Amino acid sequence: MNKRRVAIVAGNWKMNTTLGEARSLAQGVRAAIGGAQGVTVILCPPFISLAAVADEVRGSDLHVAAQNMHPEAKGAFTGEVAPTMLQDVCEYVVIGHSERRAYFKEADDFINKKVKAALAHNLRPILCVGETLEEREAGRTAQVLERQTRGGLEGIVDLSRVVVAYEPVWAIGTGRAATPEDANQGNATVRRTVASIAGAEAAQRLPILYGGSVTGANAASLFAQDEVDGGLVGGASLRAEEFATIVRAAGAQKARM
Ligand code: PGA
Repeated sequence: MNKRRVAIVAGNWKMNTTLGEARSLAQGVRAAIGGAQGVTVILCPPFISLAAVADEVRGSDLHVAAQNMHPEAKGAFTGEVAPTMLQDVCEYVVIGHSERRAYFKEADDFINKKVKAALAHNLRPILCVGETLEEREAGRTAQVLERQTRGGLEGIVDLSRVVVAYEPVWAIGTGRAATPEDANQGNATVRRTVASIAGAEAAQRLPILYGGSVTGANAASLFAQDEVDGGLVGGASLRAEEFATIVRAAGAQKARM
């Protein structure tokens, strides 16, 4: 971590939790984290539980994010959720997660529309980028991160409300997190790309998270890296106590600065 930037830990619950389970998990996380840790903590429940989770965290330091969004403000897009619907309920929205890119064929230009729509509706986008194992083995990691970062942020001049998460696809849900050095390098590549499009100052202020098999056991070493400003946590975010351990690891790292 770096003292110029805020620390963020976001829990991506993916397609897990019923409405009742989402409420209890939010309550559990709220209780387990306790008071302020100097970290922005974000819960990302499924759409159907967003309002309930927003209710559960009211009056606490916890924030809420959607996991996806359609770029249009409204209209004939059966099954989709618009930014106008989210803006009353949550503050952040995850965009371009690798599962959206892989299973729902979301490409950089569509993701870019979503990032722009989020900003236009006062939502803070958490843009996800990351290479597959095949791309890494072919030595194309930097190239992929540059393309996804440029593509996702194309035409956006003010990055002050944007968050980026570097999530190598091979590390997601596999129990094989990137080494702290690889995470740092991936984040540095993203920051360098942002600097080339928006200037060094904006790049230095941008929070860049690492995601992919973050756990209570490896969080401290990942967050100790200068370029890693926190984590986007999947599996471990479904366990309140472990998620709180990850938040505390971020808080402890921040307090050291
Ligand atoms: P994981 O997922 O922590 O379960 O690897 C991370 C993510 O996809 O955001």
